[in-house]
This record gives sequence, structure tokens and C-alpha cells, in this order.
Amino acid sequence: MSAADDQRAILVEDLVRTYPGGLRAVDGVNLEVAPGEIYGFLGPNGAGKSTTVRILTTLLRPTSGRAWVAGHDVVAEAGAARRVIGVALQEAALDPLMTGRELLRLQGALHGLRRAQASERGDDLLERVELVDAADRRVGTYSGGMRRRLDLALALVQRPRVLFLDEPTTGLDPASRAALWREVRALNADGTTVFLTTQYLEEAEQLAERVGIIDRGRIVAEGTPDELKARVGEPALHVDLVDPAEAERARELLAAHGECSHRRGGGLIVRMSGARAIAPVVRTLDEAGIEVDTVEVETPTLDDVFLAVTGHAATDDPAPEPSLSA
Ligand SMILES: Nc1ncnc2c1ncn2[C@@H]1O[C@H](COP(=O)(O)OP(=O)(O)OP(=O)(O)O)[C@@H](O)[C@H]1O
Ligand SMILES: [Mg+2]
Repeated sequence: MSAADDQRAILVEDLVRTYPGGLRAVDGVNLEVAPGEIYGFLGPNGAGKSTTVRILTTLLRPTSGRAWVAGHDVVAEAGAARRVIGVALQEAALDPLMTGRELLRLQGALHGLRRAQASERGDDLLERVELVDAADRRVGTYSGGMRRRLDLALALVQRPRVLFLDEPTTGLDPASRAALWREVRALNADGTTVFLTTQYLEEAEQLAERVGIIDRGRIVAEGTPDELKARVGEPALHVDLVDPAEAERARELLAAHGECSHRRGGGLIVRMSGARAIAPVVRTLDEAGIEVDTVEVETPTLDDVFLAVTGHAATDDPAPEPSLSA
């Protein structure tokens, strides 16, 4: 079977993109995304996320390697690929003098919708991304979050089978971020495959079934968010007691829940084996008459995962030199 007959939503083979000066921004990437999946492409600044997205959405040619979206080669069959793709780029170029409604209608027309269809589709999408009130304002007056939502709506005009979102929530406030997450989940529930880049482990965790971590143009780890976090180690509970003199007795009691050690400055750290429930830990102490002041779950960050899989921090400063070709 040729790759073109393939049922995978996205297939990438040995993809390389070199920029002038020899920087290998994408350095041999292989990946597969199944139809209906949300794939998270997680990596720090300059890792090669946007370059990969631009190649997969036919906007940039690879230096070598191949890629297919819904079975269409993104170079040889770019037109066919484009018809099934929706993309919201990281730096959306929206005409500031046009209104949201006008841009959506224009996008509909570009995709071959008739005037009435384009206008109906535009109005539906304005509602969907909660921009009805701002629909007739110039885009130049939109906030960052509103632009991201409009950009998403524009990517949806042609009902794409595969949707590419390049850092859709960077710079958004928590409420706008949560709204966008809901929207991505709803689209996915309708059958849309989503390829989403992000710098946030939390975002990958919230949305993606599978995550690839990209570092300096290479995928350095891939798996479910839980698998990736497991590489960092078990989640840890930070427990502070009302009476620090009880710490040793508490430590002995909590040993049953995982590896338990004293914290500098008082309190305990419990590295839990598997289960993440706070309640049993609190109950154990409660039953022993030990009063708990605060309990916090320490959640691994992208930095923790990075450190675990690459041996360096995601936000190393100064950054190690990116790989340059000889
Ligand atoms: N047009 C270009 N010319 C030269 N180098 C480029 C160009 N575009 C990107 N690069 C370089 O390629 C590398 C990867 O860039 P890319 O934009 O793909 O990273 P990214 O993972 O999307 O980062 P960010 O999280 O900051 O958006 C970076 O080192 C970047 O400086
Ligand atoms: Mg980018």
C-alpha cells in the first residue's frame, strides 16, 4: 500500500528543514496521527514546532523527507491537502481594517462558498467562538484573545478534517484559554483531527491524547501525557503540619502511601506510588490525630519533563547552541 492510500490523518517521514545558514530547524521528524486524535506537539521556543506546522500545511517546502495529510502528499498534492486542512498560525496576519464578519465571509468566498452560504457559515462561526458582539468591529480593535478566536473561526470555515493550531492559547488569560480548550474538544468530538503545538505541558495534558516532545528539531519523547509525566517521577504531595513536632510520627504513618521524607523548613514530601489521591493521606493523619495545615500537589511542568527526557531545561538560559549542520 502506498502512503497515499494510508488511513492515517497525518504521516511524517524523516522530515528535515534547513534554513539559510545551515540551521536544521526540523531535523528528522517522524510521526503519525490517527484520524480523530488530538496530537500535542510540545516544545520550547525555537524547537521547530511552527516550521513543522508550516510544512504540514503546505506553506513551506521540506528540505527532505515526506509528509501526508489525510493521504495527500503535502508537496506533490498540495492543493488536495489544502482542501482538507484548517490552520490557525501562530502569527496570524489579519487585516486590521476589516471586521471579523467581513474576514469570515471573505474566507468563505475563497473556499468557494456562495455569498449566502459564506455569510451563514460566518455567522455560525462567530457564534461558536463567541464573537457575535464584536463581529462588526474592525479587527484592529480586537484583543489578543479575540484575534485568536477569530483566527480559529477562519480555520474552520471549510470544515477541515485536520486542524492545525500553532500555540493557540499563548498569551491568553485563563478564561479565554479554557474557552478555547472547550472549543477544541467540541471540534474533536465532531470528528476533527487536531494537531496542536504548545509550550504548556498543562495544555497538552488537558487536550492531547498523545504528545510528542520536540527539542532542537528532533522528537525526543512521545507518549500519553501520563507516560511522559511518569518519566519525571511520581507526583509529590507537600504536606505541612500544624505542629511540626509531629513530623516524624507523620512520616512513619505516611510511608504506606509512598516514599516520604522531611522537607527543609518543616513538613513532609510524599512521593506517591501510582495513586494521586490526597484524601487517603489526609485521612491517615487525621485518624492519628495529627492536624494538617496545608496539602499541595506538586505537578510536573514542561521543564521537569524536559529535564527528564533531554537532560537540559526547556528554558535554558543561555540556550545551548541549536544543532548546526557541518
Ligand atoms: N525563516 C527563517 N529563517 C531562518 N531561521 C528560521 C526561520 N524560521 C525559523 N527559523 C529558526 O528555526 C528554528 C525553529 O523555529 P520555529 O519557529 O519552528 O520554532 P518554534 O518551535 O515554533 O518556536 P516558538 O515556540 O518560539 O514559536 C529557530 O531556531 C528559528 O530561529
Ligand atoms: Mg512557533
